[in-house]
Amino acid sequence: MYVPSVDDGLAVKAGCGFGWQIYGKGNLGNPIKINRGVQKINNKNSLYNCWLGLKRIRDEDLRQKYKKYCKNIFYKSNDTIILTAIGELESAINRLFDVEVKTYAEHPGGSYIFVGTLEDALGEGYKINIELEPEGFLIQHLVQTGRNTLLIVGENNNGVLYGVFDFIKSICCGKNMDEIGNVDFPRNQLRLINHWDNINGNIERGYAGQSIFYKDNQVVKDMVRIKDYARLLSSVGINGIVINNVNVHKYETKFITEEYLPDIAILADIFCAYGIKTYLSVNFAAPIEIGKLPTADPLDPQVKKWWSKVTETIYSYIEDFGGFIIKADSEFRPGPFTYGRNHADGANMLAEALKPYGGILIWRCFVYDCMVDWRDRSVDRARAAYDNFKPLDGRFADNVILQVKNGPMDFQIREPVSPLFGAMEKTNLMMEFQITQEYTGQQKHLCYLVPMWKETLDFDTYAKGEGSYVSKVVDGSLFNNKYSGIAGVSNVGDSKCWTGHPLAQANLYGFGRLSWNPEMTSEEIAREWVLLTFGSKGKVMNTIMSMLMDSRDIYENYTSPLGIGWMVNPGHHYGPSVDGYEYSHWGTYHYADFKGIGVDRTVATGTGYTEQYREPVSSMYENIEDCPEELLLFFHHVPYIYRLKSGKTLIQHIYDTHFGGVEQVAQTIERWTDLLGEIPQEIYDLVLSKLEIQLKDAKEWRDVVNTYFYRKTGIKDTHGRKIFE
Ligand code: GCU
Repeated sequence: MYVPSVDDGLAVKAGCGFGWQIYGKGNLGNPIKINRGVQKINNKNSLYNCWLGLKRIRDEDLRQKYKKYCKNIFYKSNDTIILTAIGELESAINRLFDVEVKTYAEHPGGSYIFVGTLEDALGEGYKINIELEPEGFLIQHLVQTGRNTLLIVGENNNGVLYGVFDFIKSICCGKNMDEIGNVDFPRNQLRLINHWDNINGNIERGYAGQSIFYKDNQVVKDMVRIKDYARLLSSVGINGIVINNVNVHKYETKFITEEYLPDIAILADIFCAYGIKTYLSVNFAAPIEIGKLPTADPLDPQVKKWWSKVTETIYSYIEDFGGFIIKADSEFRPGPFTYGRNHADGANMLAEALKPYGGILIWRCFVYDCMVDWRDRSVDRARAAYDNFKPLDGRFADNVILQVKNGPMDFQIREPVSPLFGAMEKTNLMMEFQITQEYTGQQKHLCYLVPMWKETLDFDTYAKGEGSYVSKVVDGSLFNNKYSGIAGVSNVGDSKCWTGHPLAQANLYGFGRLSWNPEMTSEEIAREWVLLTFGSKGKVMNTIMSMLMDSRDIYENYTSPLGIGWMVNPGHHYGPSVDGYEYSHWGTYHYADFKGIGVDRTVATGTGYTEQYREPVSSMYENIEDCPEELLLFFHHVPYIYRLKSGKTLIQHIYDTHFGGVEQVAQTIERWTDLLGEIPQEIYDLVLSKLEIQLKDAKEWRDVVNTYFYRKTGIKDTHGRKIFE
């Protein structure tokens, strides 16, 4: 076990859990520990700093107004998270205004900022008439003669931290001190990042380098980057992290044992200081693989006992451990089916082990038969999650949450919303988005994903009549759930800019902000991110905003058309291969023949998938005239000469979008090159190199797709553009 020592430059102290608390100096600038010299930000390191670059405020007027308050910080609690918040505030003030901050444990005279929980604030006699929501905060001026006082008050410790980050953000967004004031709270209870990192340092579907947690089959020893990561996540409201891949391999299976727990507790303590709970992916067959039991049957008393013991050990290392996530009976992972048990049996057994400690069990619904025969057209992978889980509604323990991917297939650029969101009235549910761009350009292509996530959250399931939005299912309000929330599969690795493509940072930022408040628009989120990352210059803002906002449609234009998805190279999922999955066992078909393309998922003549939605959604998808055209081929098999609402035939639409998509990428490059000299050179160069790859690959997509359909149909492009024979 690695124990950090002062010799490492890292001071050690008792932490959130029973592990070690590390007070390293992050490159992002800020030591957790308070009242020690504040780390200077390296302004040249703009790739690494992301949205926490905190540029010095130059406006003298603004500086003077802030300075009055900011010199003194008054706080009561010595809780680790509060100390983190104080450290962040102190460091930010120092960087933004070049002011040395003094902290006080007793009421200071003069002007000051008070930072604390509601309890602390009331204890100090501040009158707060607003009821704060869980993890919420209040930022408010106190009217007192001759003094300037600002309160940053959280409903709990996390709320305090979020309040501090909000305050810092407001300054960076150019707000005047007088305008500052806010009451806010996270709409979703669980805001989780899922890492698909393996102990060997590889990241499944990772496109930003190697893992920041693991190297050479060990947990890394240098925690600086991890602390900086915790800061980034916490600053956008993330409160939970799964630190290993849902495909739990040999060594990771042992993460739940004392062989790994001391190291994992170190990671957990760093996240804990930023209000982030640690979760582990577990292997359903662990009782056999590491517990020497003959079975992993969830109803076997020995198995139950084994998991209870394991859980007890975990909590002895990590006091605030969040719980387990599990991929079971999915893509060859073991699960309860082996023992003739169902998902509820499996989930409830693990949930029972976690229950005494307040832990939760997240059970993934990505369950489908991945060994189907392509000749059998009655099988429809899209149906699988609903068919598997709907019959079990109401049979899960109250600390089980089902984690459902946004669509019924697998993170394609366009899919309908999973029908499970409108179907599970008696079960805790959470959303799974994919921040890592597995099918959306692998962080070589620009694809701002927030608009796609927004569409999902804004979708009306009609589960309880009109207005039963997915956002209300995942925030728990529609079905009154005990637990609910949103998870995102991380796009982070050890690349200098964290996300491989610098502009993909917007997806990480956006995921956090949208999970915090799904009512924010994609534009608002993008604008905030651009402002915090690149500053407020009009030209930079407008250019990057338009690049981000157009990017999803552009990507869709040159890849697979109208909701059909796939058409990627099998295995690594990059680049075009129209028939790549057409004759495979994975169940991901487009059924293109010489007359038409698309999957008939209607009740009338197809797989009957449309009936998994409530009315009127079900009929909308069932009837080709009412089906939203962007999903036409997902629901219907359509002739190439079918006329779309634009008046174009389907085949001409395919040609046009593919030619158009490439031109749009070329225009994106032009827009970007117009920013030369306006943004840090390193970022400029890196983004440009990615855009050049995108253009080359978009051309490949265009030519492969257009040629494929030209060969199938013999129908020429009406504009006579070059299609290869
Ligand atoms: C996709 C992805 C896999 C991943 C799986 C999952 O199929 O390609 O790498 O393991 O999703 O979500 O479990």
